[in-house]
Amino acid sequence: MSVEQNQTDVRSLSGTITVPGDKSISHRAVMFGSIAKGTTTIRGFLMGEDCLSTIRCFRQLGVRIEHVGDEIIVHGKGIDGLKEPSEVLDVGNSGTTIRLMLGILSGLSFYQTVIGDESIAKRPMKRVTKPLRSMGATIDGRDEANLTPLSVRGGNLTGITHTSPVASAQVKSSILLAGLQAKGVTTVLEPHRSRDHTERMLQAFGVNLLITETGVSIEGGQSLQGGGVVNVPGDISSAAFPLVATAIVPNSEVKIQNVGINPTRAGILDVLKKMGAQLTVSNEREQSGEPVADLTIQYKKLNATTIDGELIPRLIDEIPVLAVLATQAEGKTVIKDAEELKYKETNRIDTVVDQLVKMGADITSTNDGMVINGPTPLYAATVDSFGDHRIGMAFAIANLIAEGETTILRKEAVAVSYPNFFDMLKDLSR
Ligand code: S3P
Repeated sequence: MSVEQNQTDVRSLSGTITVPGDKSISHRAVMFGSIAKGTTTIRGFLMGEDCLSTIRCFRQLGVRIEHVGDEIIVHGKGIDGLKEPSEVLDVGNSGTTIRLMLGILSGLSFYQTVIGDESIAKRPMKRVTKPLRSMGATIDGRDEANLTPLSVRGGNLTGITHTSPVASAQVKSSILLAGLQAKGVTTVLEPHRSRDHTERMLQAFGVNLLITETGVSIEGGQSLQGGGVVNVPGDISSAAFPLVATAIVPNSEVKIQNVGINPTRAGILDVLKKMGAQLTVSNEREQSGEPVADLTIQYKKLNATTIDGELIPRLIDEIPVLAVLATQAEGKTVIKDAEELKYKETNRIDTVVDQLVKMGADITSTNDGMVINGPTPLYAATVDSFGDHRIGMAFAIANLIAEGETTILRKEAVAVSYPNFFDMLKDLSR
């Protein structure tokens, strides 16, 4: 489907905004509330398509989940309260839903089939199904349980120590959620620390974890205590778009209130500072066990940088829009150690590079990232999001500084994580 982008000429951006709730935290609040005993109230929940898929799946598993005003109320009856679904569980476009849910389902003795959309059908699930099978779950699917549809019959799990070759919070969380239901201790080790929302929220639900520099351990047989409130902060991955837009559109200044700045997610702030951005972090506080702040940024000419190593998992979802930023920075920006980009909603190395080349950027792909020389002027083109929300939004930001009118195909994909994205841009535009 093709949709024209009607972004009139933008001279500057200014204003104070909030961004939608954090996607990772919203998913976990519904899932953990569903397997806890007691009622969990979620405020600031992201009403994006991905998180709505999580609600739909857990309703199918027998959990009463209400939407009252601005709140989501989850009536958990404990993990044993989940019921065998009569229909297949459809996760839509959501990798977090499928991977974390597989960890929960692996401990349950009933039968389930899990599917998703055409992007999910291409994404590797073996990274979770292999360790989950080694814990004792019966999981089958195409390519040795690597690709959907997947069928699961769980139960009788035994704890394992899993050394993940990639820093992935989805893998870590999936195995920990199975470990919660396994005999003995389950440990997940990672090459770098991935986002730690699962650890923070499990602890808030009363679960004991052992957290070290290299990994996390959980003892099986613990139960989650509901009854609390989860206040979801604004998603830094969504804030990334107005942050970059403000940094590259001359004479701009924008304040974004109530953004989650968990250090395992806040790599973009480090990169912006390293590139010389005029960025202020203020009003730092804690909310439901997560650090939160207000971010103020002004336009300023930036310098190129290198993004690699432990920084990558701390900003993996922001790389498409950081590539747009790098086209406007002085010098050569190198993004490496980011092969994981190939396994996201699209192959984000290919989609970013191919589409930015169409707009005139000096960008080339490498095996594990991309190299961008800047600054270069960008020109209007017809670009395709390929149904990937973050690609659609990154190109809407590129369009702000491009000469002419860019057409973004399948731009409606933004609803996966930022339903009012285009309204936000319009509101900030002067
Ligand atoms: C997520 C983890 C990351 C991230 C994704 C959300 C999560 O994926 O890219 O958007 O909520 O745990 P990986 O765990 O595959 O790195």
